[in-house]
Amino acid sequence: MRFSGKIALVTGAAAGVGRAVAERLAAEGASLMLLDCDEAGVVALAGALRAQGHGTMTRALDVADPVAFAEAVAACVDRFGRLDLAVNNAGINGGAMMPLWEMGDEQWHRTIAVNLDSVFYGLRAQMAAMLGHGGAIVNMGSIMGQVGMAGIAHYTTSKHGLVGLTRVAAIDGGPHAIRVNAVAPTFLPTALMDDVPEEVWAQLLQGHPLPRLPSVDEVAALTCFLLSDDARAITGSIQMIDAGWTAQ
Ligand SMILES: NC(=O)c1ccc[n+]([C@@H]2O[C@H](COP(=O)([O-])OP(=O)(O)OC[C@H]3O[C@@H](n4cnc5c(N)ncnc54)[C@H](O)[C@@H]3O)[C@@H](O)[C@H]2O)c1
Repeated sequence: MRFSGKIALVTGAAAGVGRAVAERLAAEGASLMLLDCDEAGVVALAGALRAQGHGTMTRALDVADPVAFAEAVAACVDRFGRLDLAVNNAGINGGAMMPLWEMGDEQWHRTIAVNLDSVFYGLRAQMAAMLGHGGAIVNMGSIMGQVGMAGIAHYTTSKHGLVGLTRVAAIDGGPHAIRVNAVAPTFLPTALMDDVPEEVWAQLLQGHPLPRLPSVDEVAALTCFLLSDDARAITGSIQMIDAGWTAQ
């Protein structure tokens, strides 16, 4: 029960990694603010967690909307009295892959808005709420924050930007006992990768030194370690969970 009495906020909580993180935080004692643009999804998760005795609240929002994000953090503090932990996890794959000279402005800007601008909006509101008592934040990065890949200039740039934001947030937050780290997974079997055909998954697997890819639960476990006091000396780090992909 590492998070007994803690108040945690998770974005993209309705599915995939965010849902696994939220379930693990609740199982270890945290009360939760669950954010997602999928209102039915977060309401369903909150209902299931409440039935198990966990404190929850939800907000449906687009994390790329700075006003809505700030209001959600304020509503969390209003209801629970404080904010201790946050996971900026919501993200999109940005749609079709293509050489960057073919990519349109809208595809570029929307991906940067959801995957990167949102992390800035989140950090700004969350860190302000943690001033005075400290806290811990994890931003959900990707192997694409360390290396590039053909056809995804938008996604790769958003995740490289997230690395810089994480480092500066850690430096700004350090004197206030606010720790900020990033988790950087390789390919995961979530809805984000739904359109990847079987044979491409097989090729991707072969590109990793380890013969298996991480599960969303393993990504959630790493995230919760970084949020816990076990990681009290760790800030500004980018923790790879990539079956060795970026070691090559
Ligand atoms: N799946 C992968 O292969 C993979 C690999 C590395 C990193 N990641 C990162 O992990 C994070 C979570 O991805 P996932 O694989 O769990 O995807 P997912 O599609 O399963 O879940 C993403 C969640 O975020 C929500 N969301 C999307 N856009 C939003 C918006 N604008 N506002 C609010 N909520 C929004 C979705 O409704 C969904 O519930 C993302 O940041 C992604 O970039 C995923």
